[in-house]
Amino acid sequence: MKHFLLPLFISLILISQSFGQSYNNLWIPDTLIGTNFNLRIVDTFAQIVNTGNQTITGGINGKFWGPTIFVNKGDQIQMNVQNKLKDSVTIHWHGMHLPAVMDGGPHQIIPPNTIWKPYWTIKNEAATYWYHPHLHEMAMEQITKGIGGLLIVRDEKEKALALPRKYGVDDIPLVLTDRDFNSSNQFSIVPYGDSMLTNMTLRAKYDVPAQIVRFRILNAAIERSYNIGFSDGRTFYVITSDGGLLNVPVAKTRYLLHAGERIEILVNFTNQNGTNVDLKAYNSSLGNNIPGGENFVTGPFGNFLGKKDFNILRINVIAPTVNPITTIPNTLATNTYLKASDAQLTRQLTISDSMGFPNILGPNAFLINRKLFNINYNEYNIPLNNTEIWQITSSSIFGHPFHIHDVEFNILSINGVAPDATQAGWKDVVFVPGRTGGTSSVVKFIAKFDDFADPLHPFMYHCHIALHEDEGMMGQFIVTNTTATQNLSPLNNDFNIYPNPAKDRIFIRFNSPNQSAYYIKVIDSSGRTKLMLPQPKLENGIDINSLKTGIYHLLLTNQNNMITGSGTFIKTE
Ligand code: C2O
Ligand code: CU
Ligand code: CU
Repeated sequence: MKHFLLPLFISLILISQSFGQSYNNLWIPDTLIGTNFNLRIVDTFAQIVNTGNQTITGGINGKFWGPTIFVNKGDQIQMNVQNKLKDSVTIHWHGMHLPAVMDGGPHQIIPPNTIWKPYWTIKNEAATYWYHPHLHEMAMEQITKGIGGLLIVRDEKEKALALPRKYGVDDIPLVLTDRDFNSSNQFSIVPYGDSMLTNMTLRAKYDVPAQIVRFRILNAAIERSYNIGFSDGRTFYVITSDGGLLNVPVAKTRYLLHAGERIEILVNFTNQNGTNVDLKAYNSSLGNNIPGGENFVTGPFGNFLGKKDFNILRINVIAPTVNPITTIPNTLATNTYLKASDAQLTRQLTISDSMGFPNILGPNAFLINRKLFNINYNEYNIPLNNTEIWQITSSSIFGHPFHIHDVEFNILSINGVAPDATQAGWKDVVFVPGRTGGTSSVVKFIAKFDDFADPLHPFMYHCHIALHEDEGMMGQFIVTNTTATQNLSPLNNDFNIYPNPAKDRIFIRFNSPNQSAYYIKVIDSSGRTKLMLPQPKLENGIDINSLKTGIYHLLLTNQNNMITGSGTFIKTE
């Protein structure tokens, strides 16, 4: 928002509020249910601002954001991610425990017009996860465009509880973010927006039934934290942390949710038919070292929501549904958390501020282990099945939501104090507070790095403030299986492609027994990648229906010796 527009903007707000027409119906993302999911990422546009131009956006299967994907624990799911953007992109499955080569971090670059086909078995507990772009130095821009979606895991434990689960009725997703619109209603790529967007809706309102309602809340902001609470001060009950159900619902009147974090809450609207209440961000109480607690009106971080209280959702209570949930369960789960004594080792990480490092907005970048991200460098090589304490010592003046891929962890302590009950469950983001005076903050968490080893593909850890991540506040690790018996495969990777020419499907025949593919890329005759197949299941062949007729090169990296060989095939009508 340009500053000369400020008085105009404020008077428009006052006018629209005084006429009482200021709310828009909360948009509820569509759902995808099953085991095979088609996600098509497109450049598009949407009428987000009520009047004037549409906003240029990025969407998945639609105009903005993407579908809510429902999966069941134990199912093997297949994702078919098609990039129809003009730029490369990646899609990361935030919070999922899965092979690194399927993770969608900065290494899994999907060029335009390419289909990426990761698949994995859902091992995560029932909770609310999400997916979003993760291309290095492009995360802020591509997330700002609105590319992303929710990924909801269900499991038997959660299904056995009497919880609200009618999506969009008593089980309501709330994706929190904020954006800055320029004078022609286009997004500015800035860390803090002037306008709250709830499910991409400005000034959102929603009708909820007079019973127990579940909200699944994701902080999808570029930088801002939201200190959530209700305008009447009512109690709500936190039932999950990032990666699963808590043992018991935890009563709260405020909850500070940082970028990347999710909580599910239960709210009791029983007998309140006809009333209304606001879900708000009480950010005026935040310190200026918490994202959104700064009071900058001008400059690169200037925005209208800094250190203010503002609305997230106007809630109108309507008649209850049939068979409403009317009680909050006493218990939810029996979790076995990791204990400090389970750990094989403690890794010491640092977060610091540094003068003179390249930075998008100024002379300072934030550093992990005193360096900027280098995509060719693995900071840690973690033995498969290690249980590790990560101790993060931060001398930064600012707080940072630290996120790790691959695992869900348990927080052991924050500045020497055990976490609050809402933070004691499975987590994949932990807020590392800024230093206090001259004293660094120290956060410890514990995680087990099981199931997935890969000598080539790393996992990431980073600050989930997309600006900081893009500026290089990120590192990577590999998990390797040191005890694996070496497969004495020949030091070649000879294979044939058949049938050739082929119409629908090609098969791979290795010349040596017991070979498999770590990665296959299919490239057209002008050098463009068309298919990216991490660890493809070759028994079923490779579906080539998405390819136009022509000559293709196939690059195959052998799982046993990591040697890459190539072949050629012809796709016919
Ligand atoms: Cu949600 Cu590596 O990020
Ligand atoms: Cu992640
Ligand atoms: Cu940060």
